[in-house]
Amino acid sequence: MELSNLMVIFGGTGDLTYRKLIPALYNLQHEGLLPENFVLVSVGRRDKTTEEYLVGIEEGIRGNARFPFEEEQWNRLKARIHYYRLPFEDDEAYPEFDNYLCTLEHKYATRGNRMFYLAVAPEYFSVIVDKLQKNGLVREVGAWSRVVIEKPFGKDFASAKELSRHITHVFGEENTYRIDHYLGKEMLQNIMVIRFANAFFEPVWNNKHIDHIQISSTETLGVGDRGGYYENSGALKDMVQNHLLQLLAVTTMEPPIRLDTESIRDEKVKVFKGLKELDEDLVVHNVVRGQYVRGIVDGQEVPGYREEDRVADGSDTETFVALKVEIQNFRWSGVPIYIRTGKRMHHKSIEVSVQFKEMADLLYMKGYQSTAPNMLVIRIQPYEGVSLQFNAKKPGTTNEMVPVKMDFCQNCEIGYSSPEAYERLLFDVMKGDSTLFTRWDEVEYSWRYVDRITQAWAKNKPAFPNYQAGSEGPREAMDLLARDGRKWWTSN
Ligand code: BG6
Repeated sequence: MELSNLMVIFGGTGDLTYRKLIPALYNLQHEGLLPENFVLVSVGRRDKTTEEYLVGIEEGIRGNARFPFEEEQWNRLKARIHYYRLPFEDDEAYPEFDNYLCTLEHKYATRGNRMFYLAVAPEYFSVIVDKLQKNGLVREVGAWSRVVIEKPFGKDFASAKELSRHITHVFGEENTYRIDHYLGKEMLQNIMVIRFANAFFEPVWNNKHIDHIQISSTETLGVGDRGGYYENSGALKDMVQNHLLQLLAVTTMEPPIRLDTESIRDEKVKVFKGLKELDEDLVVHNVVRGQYVRGIVDGQEVPGYREEDRVADGSDTETFVALKVEIQNFRWSGVPIYIRTGKRMHHKSIEVSVQFKEMADLLYMKGYQSTAPNMLVIRIQPYEGVSLQFNAKKPGTTNEMVPVKMDFCQNCEIGYSSPEAYERLLFDVMKGDSTLFTRWDEVEYSWRYVDRITQAWAKNKPAFPNYQAGSEGPREAMDLLARDGRKWWTSN
């Protein structure tokens, strides 16, 4: 495994680089995982020296790295970071840039391996990839060249296909790493272990025993300074097409034959292929969209979505989506999966809750309505863990029951903190392991699914805004479950 490499971040002065990417490199170094022969070139359009650049980077690490800031670690890392100004569209600038990279490759003995990380606005993805190829920056023999693409990967199926064609034409599918940072989350990977390494889960993980599943990712934050991007995206494309459908796939896929990249991806694709197609009627019935209006979040008054920076006054962009998904295969037929995501809701949480069917109404259930169904909740964030809810006897002289919980709290263990998603993902790119990145056909099927919703929505104007910041989302989202005699679960 050849880890030595030169990494180039396009978008080196962006928020992602400050908050996530370089802190992740710092964490890797802290753990001794950053290769000895490594150098980072942060590319931006602004004119600044490496010294000026490093001031902001240091702050980013202090505020965001998992490990405490240590002068010695920082000195070692900063000696390997360089800032380079490059106008992305300017063909003429690339040969000189290549010379610069070659000098660094020589100095840091990175063996010619190159990782290009595109943390830029999506309109630059193809532009940059073309320029890299045209000017011979992509190595084809004797060393590896990999490209990492941030989301959004397209804005619909057609544009995603075109983008993929463009990129894989240069790098090939095997060197194209489409990031979905949810796949880097520790507890998401843990779902597979929980399912496939425990005799008491896998045998009941099907429609004979499971009543329904909920996948929920709620945020208290609004769109911040990303109004411009978000206006063209909305919650459906920002969260559902990628993160939540991936979470759904990992929760419901068949056990892969092996734990290798393609076997796992094959199983995820089968889930996407099995999603029940949504026609217009089903979209009206099974999909709810929402947008927040001014309200109170964490004790503070916050503006409504339409009042946010770079958001149109009468914007119809959704900041909340809830939907009922069905998978048409033998394992899941008849088990609804409810998904929801929203900004400016009353708490931050990502979790998957699996609710089991009620026991037959015999023995203990008779006359003593079970107070709660059996439930397995996998908490992905902010508290990582798993809890299992079941019924036990209420102490006393009757046969009354109470729901009790067994709880595993992953980040309660003193001194333990899970690796950040980007830490794991960057390391995987260096290793050449694309298991936690999305293959083209996963992207293809998820866009096809989401496109049907967008097309149906385009026919009607939503009644926005329809939920208050700091709330549980629009009333229609509660109705979606209430209609089926269910309600949203939340651990908080
Ligand atoms: C990003 C979305 O991909 O994920 C953001 O673009 C969202 O809008 C974020 O806030 C949520 O990520 P996390 O890891 O905080 O759940």
